Amino acid sequence: MFAASLDEVTVEATGRHAVAAARSGARRHLALILDFGSQYTRLIARRVREVGVYSEIHPPTLDERRIRELAPDAVILSGGPDTATGGSPVSETASEAVFRLGVPVLGICYGMQLMAARLGGRVEASQRREFGPAQVRARGHSHLLRGIQDIVNDRGHGLLDVWMSHGDRVAALPDGFKTICSSSDAPIAGMANETRRLYGLQFHPEVTHTPQGVAILKRFLHEIAGCKADWTPAGIEREHVERIRALTGEDEILLALSGGVDSAVAAALVHRAAGRRLHCIFVDNGLLRLHEAEQVMDVFARHGVDVQQVDASERFLAALRGVADPERKRRIVGRLFVEVFEEQAAGLPRARWLAQGTIYPDVIESAAAHTGKAALIKSHHNVAGLPERMKLRLLEPLRDLFKDEVRRLGERLGLPRELLGRHPFPGPGLAVRVLGEVRREYLELLRRADAIYLEELHRCDLYDRLAQAFAVFLPVRSVGVQGDRRRYEYVVALRAVETTDFMTARPARLPADFLDVVSARIVNEVSGIARVVYDISSKPPATIEWE
Ligand code: XMP
Repeated sequence: MFAASLDEVTVEATGRHAVAAARSGARRHLALILDFGSQYTRLIARRVREVGVYSEIHPPTLDERRIRELAPDAVILSGGPDTATGGSPVSETASEAVFRLGVPVLGICYGMQLMAARLGGRVEASQRREFGPAQVRARGHSHLLRGIQDIVNDRGHGLLDVWMSHGDRVAALPDGFKTICSSSDAPIAGMANETRRLYGLQFHPEVTHTPQGVAILKRFLHEIAGCKADWTPAGIEREHVERIRALTGEDEILLALSGGVDSAVAAALVHRAAGRRLHCIFVDNGLLRLHEAEQVMDVFARHGVDVQQVDASERFLAALRGVADPERKRRIVGRLFVEVFEEQAAGLPRARWLAQGTIYPDVIESAAAHTGKAALIKSHHNVAGLPERMKLRLLEPLRDLFKDEVRRLGERLGLPRELLGRHPFPGPGLAVRVLGEVRREYLELLRRADAIYLEELHRCDLYDRLAQAFAVFLPVRSVGVQGDRRRYEYVVALRAVETTDFMTARPARLPADFLDVVSARIVNEVSGIARVVYDISSKPPATIEWE
């Protein structure tokens, strides 16, 4: 896919969502993953990248012309909830076309069953479903599994501990295939046509419960498909810098810096490619955390990045006065941000591009929303409508990167760890963490309480173990006593959650001693807060934020 010429880059650049599609001159190997709706599809994509091979997830409705344009070096068919017992769905043309490419194909779980059904084998509902750990015995010395095992039994057979999750199974092999492993419940737990380099595995090599899974994926990608391990932070940086230069030429580029990880890494990357052609605008909306604005400005000043800081806090707070409804607060903050940003950008009339920190999960989610193949996760990224209104082209340099890749790239680009390891922070900022009407006094109390909480989490090495932690200001007053003095002051709630997808989350079991310390410090050090409570709600039914 990356063999295309620069002409193609320029043609694509005229489209709005240009960068992800743009090719660099150097050819990079690609593993195409067809997503049949497995909960593990993203994990497959990440594992493939972890072994150094660039991967992309596409829906099975992808047409053959597009597949040939992508020119993958290997194809992986994911698992999924469908059944191939009645043959395979006609709409999913990609799963037929990939067998005509002549490149190695690996079908995982449903992907293997689909391969069997497509190529003339038979799939049937299994009498016994297999979910969870299992052991398979490798057979016939296939190229895929040769020499890969967890143990060798006393008869000299290699055994693999694997993770199974299936109801159907392959009952008859297609012509030209052989069985490469079996388990007690699935006599055909793996199959291969080694001449055509087609492989199927009933188990999931992508999950950590299959200890040899990475070795199997490496064998498939590096040895069978001949993909080089060239997807490394250094390679990613080089390639993305080249792409940005090819796309933007001598144009000026705008970027809205938020202080979050994605926009910060996007800024550092675009700066590496475009230098002083990049102009960042940092809007201080008065809803940021303690010292946040100074920290962001400081980091980018040290990098020599041009950042204009706009103090618009008065304007935001005035617009929020008297507004208690969370959705209205969100809308006000969003609308004002666009206004302020446009006013600043008017001082940079030569700008042709708006760079944004969209990352690969956002892209997959919006694609999934169209194909309906994976669960939709709400995406809060980007300021919708801004590029169109401002007649700017959209530059999304992180569009093909997962979050951990974004962080590693950020490290390579010299951004500090504290910034890269930050928990997500909502666009409307503290406006949704002060319940009801947002007042300056409330914001100040919240900032100080939140800073104490985060400081203690860092000090006790808890911060990096949590997905998100923050304080929430409750505008109710409660009675307390300090020394001989009665207090009648506000309440702060502490929130800490564990989650990987932010769709569901559970409250973190923070140590009681830790909570004691935080509570004592907040009540003693923040005059105006008399009580601290800990939020023990899961999502669902609660959400992570309180508003
Ligand atoms: P909820 O509260 O919906 O939050 O469980 C899930 C994740 O999204 C973040 N969040 C937002 N991010 N704009 C954002 O940029 C928003 O309006 C917004 N609301 C929630 C939240 O912090 C959590 O990480």
